[in-house]
Amino acid sequence: MERLPKHIAIIMDGNGRWAKEQGQDRLFGHYHGVISVRKVVEAATEIGIEYLTLYAFSTENWDRPQAEVSGLMTLFVDTIAKEVPDLHKNNIKLHFIGNLDMLPKEAQEALSNAMEITAQNTGLTLIIALSYSSRWELVEATKRIAQKVLNGSLDMEHITEAEISENLTTSEFPDPELMIRTSGECRISNFLLYQLAYAELYFTDTLWPAFGKEDLIKALSEYQSRERRFGKTSEQIHTD
Ligand code: IPE
Ligand code: IPE
Ligand code: MG
Repeated sequence: MERLPKHIAIIMDGNGRWAKEQGQDRLFGHYHGVISVRKVVEAATEIGIEYLTLYAFSTENWDRPQAEVSGLMTLFVDTIAKEVPDLHKNNIKLHFIGNLDMLPKEAQEALSNAMEITAQNTGLTLIIALSYSSRWELVEATKRIAQKVLNGSLDMEHITEAEISENLTTSEFPDPELMIRTSGECRISNFLLYQLAYAELYFTDTLWPAFGKEDLIKALSEYQSRERRFGKTSEQIHTD
């Protein structure tokens, strides 16, 4: 239980391929993906992880077939409605990041409702990235900073790394120390580009609907076996 990351970020990938293996359609995979979300949230709570960010839908995912996109939107709304009472009972605080204005009104309402209900909770902070992409987020942050410079509330010299972090959608959370991606794809896919600068990356072939508590523990023990050097030498780390 030592040297645990405070913040884990996960790219939940492989629902479609998992469904195909079962001879089912893609939405079947997304429904089973929700079961993995429940398992991983439970495990993270048990282990005492403070922040868990899950990539549920990217800006690029809007370009998927219309039937899949609307199926996913329905699934989000239904799942949030169904899960919020339990999440609340377990002291979990929900947060959503992304271009939420692009979501259907019904989904937007479900999200703000869920955030409001769980706002005072002090356990795990569960951050769901929905209609999120890192480049979108960086463009928004740049506009906000430029606006401050234009209206005179910020000097150019004060555009620091901290100022950039404060203008991202994740401003309230520490950067993830561990990023997990399932399904064998070894890419970031526009996820938390700035925040993952020094994260440990863990890739597994397991498809998301097959991912559970044991897989999370495996990723954590791999994380614990790594030496995080942050540019220093191994010797420096050991004498620090
Ligand atoms: C991840 O699974 C879920 C979302 C992106 C919404 P995919 O739907 O990408 O599954 P694969 O990659 O096609 O198997
Ligand atoms: C990344 O998965 C986004 C989510 C898991 C929500 P994709 O399946 O959309 O990623 P790419 O496009 O294959 O990289
Ligand atoms: Mg995929």
